[in-house]
Amino acid sequence: MRELIYYVAVSLDGYIAGPDHQFDAFLTEGDHMDGINERYADAIPTDIAEQLGIDQSRGRFDAVVMGANTHAVGLPEMPSPYRHLEQVVFTHRPLEPAENLTVTGEDPVRVVREMKRRPGKDIWLCGGGQLAAALHQEIDRLVLKRQPLLFGAGVPLFAPGEYSPALFDLVSSRTFASAVTFTEYVRRR
Ligand SMILES: NC(=O)c1ccc[n+]([C@@H]2O[C@H](COP(=O)([O-])OP(=O)(O)OC[C@H]3O[C@@H](n4cnc5c(N)ncnc54)[C@H](OP(=O)(O)O)[C@@H]3O)[C@@H](O)[C@H]2O)c1
Repeated sequence: MRELIYYVAVSLDGYIAGPDHQFDAFLTEGDHMDGINERYADAIPTDIAEQLGIDQSRGRFDAVVMGANTHAVGLPEMPSPYRHLEQVVFTHRPLEPAENLTVTGEDPVRVVREMKRRPGKDIWLCGGGQLAAALHQEIDRLVLKRQPLLFGAGVPLFAPGEYSPALFDLVSSRTFASAVTFTEYVRRR
């Protein structure tokens, strides 16, 4: 069955963005970028991949789910940031229609379970922390790009809430010269 994979960049202190939602402190240069381009090319915005000549056809994902705040990061320039994937944005507010993008206020758990029942590649949980919290029980795999920086405050990897303890097993870990570490975990069944 398709898996829901939370693939995300995170600071040493567990934030996916800084206190003002700043995202640009994450390293976008260094040898870890080769790792991203090799294994996670389909998680690069379509326009950027096209500009860089990156092939997105052999990726791990064919769908992405995003919270409204995550989708808003690309607006207004990128209303459909990952248009090479089926995109689902969760919000209770109206959004302008965009290519290959569905907007829904339905329960994310119900929507993701339905997506998992359909055949396809894995589903990328892009973020952010609020949507990850809503979907925490559905996350099959975590791929954390841990960056050597401290925010001190900001948007946590998972918004605070009530979680039942869940264990994940280590699948792989790779550290780059840039000091970024990719760590993959799979939910223990
Ligand atoms: N480091 C990374 O790789 C990475 C990746 C992605 C995002 N980010 C960062 O994360 C930040 C955004 O994360 P966030 O936690 O603030 O917000 P988010 O999870 O992206 O979006 C939250 C919004 O999504 C909607 N939503 C969430 N749960 C829902 C539910 N159960 N049902 C229906 N709608 C739901 C709501 O929209 P409405 O209020 O409109 O109803 C909610 O306000 C941004 O700063 C972004 O840059 C970082």
